[in-house]
Amino acid sequence: MRHSPELESDNMQTAVNSPACTATAGYTGPSIPQRKRIVVAMTGATGALMGIKVLIALRRLNIETHLVMSKWAEATVKYETDYHPSNVKALADYSYNANDMAAPVSSGSFRTDGMIVVPCSMKTLAAIHCGFCDDLISRAADVMLKERRKLVLVARETPLSEIHLRNMLEVTRAGAIIFPPVPAYYIKPATVEDLVDQSVGRVLDLFDLDTKDFERWNGWKKA
Ligand SMILES: Cc1cc2nc3c(=O)[nH]c(=O)nc-3n(C[C@H](O)[C@H](O)[C@H](O)COP(=O)(O)O)c2cc1C
Repeated sequence: MRHSPELESDNMQTAVNSPACTATAGYTGPSIPQRKRIVVAMTGATGALMGIKVLIALRRLNIETHLVMSKWAEATVKYETDYHPSNVKALADYSYNANDMAAPVSSGSFRTDGMIVVPCSMKTLAAIHCGFCDDLISRAADVMLKERRKLVLVARETPLSEIHLRNMLEVTRAGAIIFPPVPAYYIKPATVEDLVDQSVGRVLDLFDLDTKDFERWNGWKKA
């Protein structure tokens, strides 16, 4: 069964009443967060469902989310899932246009607890690697690195060229965490959703958040 917006109807109802529906200019929240605040960026690599599930998990964990989607993320959301980009934006507390360089997350003075780029394309990885901030995603990621905040890149491509590997090594040296969405087969997944939930859970582990949506390795199971 494909994951669909209908399955998240409770979340959606809450989201519709949340500030996510307002544009950046309407941002009226505090610049010092009252609850944990995470920036989520979605780019045009395959795996849009991972970004959607990260947003759903963070909503359930009562984390304030600030979402930026690239043009190609919107295209893959439409192609790969039953969501419309507007449904995805409604899962976040706030969402911004990727060209809006004046959005709060563009500044280090806007305090956050980190950022997840999920999925992260090789193009956005390259932009982050060289500090070329021509959209809000690469700018917000640049802010994370300069402010020494957590930056997790769910970098997705296969196979990897020397350029991809070099970019990954250098952003790691600059403080980012490369988290390729590589499945753990020992969970014996029955569905694609099981695989996605495991990756999402392990990404959020990096922020000390427990989705409780996947089985952790606990030694060999007794037959
Ligand atoms: C269906 C589809 C799947 C794609 N998958 C990947 C991928 O897995 N990794 C990647 O680096 N680029 C992938 N691309 C190419 C990116 O979308 C493209 O490089 C785009 O410019 C990325 O821009 P963005 O990072 O601003 O979203 C894919 C494109 C399409 C249409």
